Amino acid sequence: MTITANWSYPTAVKFGAGRIKELADHCRALGMRKPLLVTDRGLAPMAITQNALDILEAGGLGRAIFADVDPNPNDKNLDAGVKAFKDGGHDGVVAFGGGSGLDLGKCVAFMVGQTRPVWDFEDIGDWWTRASVKGIAPIVAVPTTAGTGSEVGRASVITNSASHVKKVIFHPKFLPGVTICDPELTVGMPKVITAGTGMDAFAHCLEAYSSPFYHPMSAGIALEGMRLVKEYLPRAYKDGTDIEARANMMSAAAMGAVAFQKGLGAIHSLSHPVGAIYNTHHGMTNAVVMPPVLRFNRPAIEEKIARAAAYLGIAGGFDGFYDYVLKLREELGVPDRLSALGVGTDRIDEMSEMAIVDPTAGGNPVELTLDAAKKLFRECI
Ligand SMILES: NC(=O)c1ccc[n+]([C@@H]2O[C@H](COP(=O)([O-])OP(=O)(O)OC[C@H]3O[C@@H](n4cnc5c(N)ncnc54)[C@H](O)[C@@H]3O)[C@@H](O)[C@H]2O)c1
Ligand SMILES: [Fe+2]
Repeated sequence: MTITANWSYPTAVKFGAGRIKELADHCRALGMRKPLLVTDRGLAPMAITQNALDILEAGGLGRAIFADVDPNPNDKNLDAGVKAFKDGGHDGVVAFGGGSGLDLGKCVAFMVGQTRPVWDFEDIGDWWTRASVKGIAPIVAVPTTAGTGSEVGRASVITNSASHVKKVIFHPKFLPGVTICDPELTVGMPKVITAGTGMDAFAHCLEAYSSPFYHPMSAGIALEGMRLVKEYLPRAYKDGTDIEARANMMSAAAMGAVAFQKGLGAIHSLSHPVGAIYNTHHGMTNAVVMPPVLRFNRPAIEEKIARAAAYLGIAGGFDGFYDYVLKLREELGVPDRLSALGVGTDRIDEMSEMAIVDPTAGGNPVELTLDAAKKLFRECI
């Protein structure tokens, strides 16, 4: 079966294998004449990236690229990207990559129109209304991983390079004008990235579903997102060229990001400081801390998770779901402990302080106190 579709939810999504060939058309439709493709260092030389540049060039839009972007991108990458955009006289951004390239690209498009520092637009209250909307550049997003869902999100995660804190920067205009979801672009992901990004999508769905906030639409999307991960992530992991599995994982990733309007929780609150300090892969870190957080949250979510288990065809209620998560992790080669990702016990106090003030902590179904965070970190490491 060929999966192809045009959605306008939550933005214009052009979904289907091979649809990267439409890139120049969508850029032009948004008014771009000289776009800057923003991606990370690792992706820059790869064939999928060079092909995207070829398509832009053939469409008369040049082949400008900015790729000084780290995994877990930071404010220095952002400043350099804004400078490259202005120096090159660009008029739009192709945000290309995994969450790192997408987030930085989106943020460059936003910041070229601002005079205030990026930290003034952290996702707190109505801080986003401080922004000047006029100068924000249009964005076409092209995901090359299936995990963060940043391609359909209104936020970017930027690490403060001075404080080593991951900040969520929010503005409605971060939502790309057009997103091209071409599953063929994800075929070359190394197994470990397929696993980590897929588990990020699962974590988004699980935490959104588990959060106590009232948002039944997101809860429904989160459930179906989990089902897609259950059915297709092991397939995509085993055979990276399985396009049906890759396509469904791309949908699951987008669904996770739509669902987490309902909130995230302690998986992300623990994972953010670990990623900011140790530069570990975000989704892989989530996968490692998932079981201890599930145990911690059990009293508040036992019934809810039993309902999810029933939908997912997992017997045994909460316990069955928990065992399923352990089995899935094992199947994907996810380590049992954070120590396997290079995390030591010496910075638990500092990471715990960061975890409890992380914006995701408020969505955890059980209050994440300082003591609880320390205990969870000890279990996870
Ligand atoms: N904006 C959001 O809502 C949101 C949500 C979750 C996470 N994030 C952020 O996203 C980032 C993580 O993104 P990610 O998990 O997609 O990883 P990533 O973008 O950091 O990419 C991981 C690695 O995979 C490589 N890669 C990407 N696509 C590839 C492909 N098709 N073939 C071969 N290699 C490829 C990259 O070069 C990189 O080395 C973190 O900074 C995280 O904080 C953002
Ligand atoms: Fe995430």
